[in-house]
Amino acid sequence: MDEADRIADVDAVPDDGTLLCSVRDGFDEDEVILTRLGGDGSVAAWRNYCPHWTDVRLDRGSGASVRDGELLCAKHGATFRPGDGECTHGPCEGANLDPVDVTVADGGVYLTDDRFEFDGIGPASDVDLSTGSRIDFSGN
Ligand code: FES
Repeated sequence: MDEADRIADVDAVPDDGTLLCSVRDGFDEDEVILTRLGGDGSVAAWRNYCPHWTDVRLDRGSGASVRDGELLCAKHGATFRPGDGECTHGPCEGANLDPVDVTVADGGVYLTDDRFEFDGIGPASDVDLSTGSRIDFSGN
C-alpha cells in the first residue's frame, strides 16, 4: 500500500459515527465518510452527499451521525445501512449512497478508489457548510 493513500488508523474510524475526510479528483475536492462495520475491523466509505438532494451533504461538517446503527442525513433524517449504503427510511428510500473504495491493511484504512487522491482528515476546504436555501426538518 502507498502511504500517501493511508487515510487513518482503523482505530480512528468509529463504529458509532463516521470519520470525515477530503479527497481530490484533479482540482476538485470532494468528501468521504468512513464508518466501521461490526467488530471485525472492516470499513465502508461513502461520498458525503445525500441521494435525496445530491447538492446536500449528509453531515454538518464533522462527519455523519449514526443512529440505531444506521447513517443519518442531517437534512431530513433519512437513514442508510452502513454496509451497503441503501436508504432504509426517508424521502430517498431505496436509493443508495455513492460508494468509495477503501482497503484495510496494516492497521490502516487506505483509499483505493482510482477516481480520487487522499487529501486530508476533516471537511474539504472549498465546501460551504451553510445550509443555503434548502430547508431541513429543524427549519434551518
Ligand atoms: S437531503 Fe438527505 S434526506 Fe433530504
